[in-house]
This record gives sequence, C-alpha cells and structure tokens, in this order.
Amino acid sequence: MTQTDRPRRSALYLPASNAKAIAKARTLPADVVILDLEDAVAPDMKAEARAAAIAAVQEGGFGDREVAIRVNGLDTSWGAADLAAVAASGADAILVPKVNTPEDIALYNAELGAAPASTQLWAMIETCASVGQLPAIAASAATTRLSLFVMGTNDLAKEMRARLTPERTPFLPFLSMTVAAARANGVAVLDGVCNEFRDLAVFRAEAGQGLLFGFDGKTLIHPDQIAPCNEIFSPGEDELRWAETVISAFTLPENAGKGAIKVDGKMTELLHLEQAKRLVAVAKRIAGQG
Ligand code: COA
Ligand code: MG
Repeated sequence: MTQTDRPRRSALYLPASNAKAIAKARTLPADVVILDLEDAVAPDMKAEARAAAIAAVQEGGFGDREVAIRVNGLDTSWGAADLAAVAASGADAILVPKVNTPEDIALYNAELGAAPASTQLWAMIETCASVGQLPAIAASAATTRLSLFVMGTNDLAKEMRARLTPERTPFLPFLSMTVAAARANGVAVLDGVCNEFRDLAVFRAEAGQGLLFGFDGKTLIHPDQIAPCNEIFSPGEDELRWAETVISAFTLPENAGKGAIKVDGKMTELLHLEQAKRLVAVAKRIAGQG
C-alpha cells in the first residue's frame, strides 16, 4: 500500500491544547487524527498546544490511525517555532495552512529538512490565491514530501466573502479543481469540515457530496461525525456487487480481447474494469486485508 492508497475516510481535528480530546481520539474509529495548533487554538495557548501535540505523538497509543499535526503558518509569529519543534516529532504528517503557491510548499518542505523520511507534508487548500496555482502546487509533490491536500472551506468562505450553506454552491468549482489537481499528481485529497456537528442529516448530505466529488474522505470536528463518515466513504454493497460483476464479465471467454462489453444492459469499458478493481482493492484495505 502506498501513502496515497491508505484509507483516509475520516480525519478528526482536535485542538492539541485539549488533553481530554487527545485521550479520546486514541479510542475513536477515525482513520486520521489531526492535532491542531492553528485555528482551534487561542493565541495564549499556542506554546502549550505545541508541547502537548509533540508529547502525544511521542507517547503514541494511536494504533493504525495516521497522526498529523497542523502547524501555524510561517507568516505568523508561531509558525517557525512550530515547524522546528514538530519536524522531529515522528508525526506521520505535518499539515500546513493557507498555501498559496508552489514556492510555499518548497519553503515548508525545506523547514522539514531534518524530519524523518517518512514524515509527509500535507497542505490546506483554503485561500483565493491558490485557485490559479492548484496544478503547480500539486505538481510539487514530485519533488517534495507533499502527499495530501485538505480543503479548508471555512477559511475559503471567509476570504471569498461567500456563504457556507449546506449545498456549498459557491465552492463547488474550487472543490472539483482541487480534486482534479490532486489526482493529476498522485496527491490524496480530503474534504473540508461540516460545522453542523449536532445535525447528522446535514453532515451526511455534505459527506455524500464530498464522495460524489471524488474526495478520499472528509475532515471532521466531532466524534459523532466519524461513524457516518466511515460508512459513506467505504465502498457500498451495491458498488462492490457491480465491481465483482464487471470483473467476472471481463474474464468470460466471449469477452476476451474486447475493450467494450455489455454488463447489466450498460456499456462497460476497460476503464470501468479498472474502477471496479480499484473499488475492490479499497474495500480490502479498509478491511485490513490489502
Ligand atoms: N476530538 C476528540 N474528542 C472530542 C472532539 C474532537 N474533535 N470534540 C468533542 N470531543 C469529546 C468531548 O471532549 C466530549 O468528551 P467526553 O464525553 O469524554 O466529555 C465528547 O466528545 C462530547 O463532546 P460535546 O460536548 O458534544 O462537544 P463540545 O461542546 O465539548 O465541543 C467543539 C464542541 C466543536 C468545541 C469540539 O467538538 C471541538 O473542539 N472540535 C474540534 C475543533 C477543531 O479542531 N477545529 C479546527 C479545524 S476546523
Ligand atoms: Mg483555517
């Protein structure tokens, strides 16, 4: 399994200053835990949160979950100290905010020069300036530790002065452009958070929209969002049944050497066979067999 193939259906943020939330995260079924030093932490708690995040990673206990630390930007008074401190923490990934250009990625990558080779660089896509730079930012994955994008829809709404409604209409082009740039460069991509953590119907609709758009998973703010998110981003029974049917149809002698065949009354091409195989592989990885 490569880094970009890992199941990342659910990625739970928590303020690294909240010891209770860190303890709880070790028991929750999220695929990824993001210890936040940035937006969720008040200025006078920044140093304490930084120390707590590093201690939590070094203490471990997160099992198979990937653990990321989200740092403050290098353009803030905490960013340089955050990066220097977390580089050697052994976290699976360092998530950096408000990336505008490929030069920003290069800068963060250089700051992580002393980090273990396995430490990935993840980037928030959440600024208006990044919109014209998405392909170039994603292409920098070839020469840096960059391996994953996280949509930051709250910051995007603030910058655009757009309204973040459940339908997310103003952001849809941004979401699909980010997914396309990520996919073109082998970068994984997670959807933004749903602030409505008490209304799981709203959450489910939004997570379903993220799946439709091609995201690998969704970032979350509350434990109640994890179970529905894992369910929505796991291949469903119907999808797996379709995949098995397509895979076996292409192995029939009468279909040997064909590029397009009929399966359940629908045109089915070799590209669908590839999609079907990918779905089966994803399901196996989620089940821990791949
Ligand atoms: N991670 C881990 N545990 C969490 C959690 C999280 N993100 N959010 C809540 N919990 C825990 C609480 O500590 C509480 O634990 P307990 O039952 O052992 O006491 C339990 O889940 C229920 O919490 P609840 O009372 O429903 O929520 P709250 O009012 O305490 O907190 C928020 C609401 C939004 C403040 C909180 O969920 C949170 O801080 N979320 C993350 C915010 C964040 O990181 N934002 C940055 C990225 S957008
Ligand atoms: Mg933000």
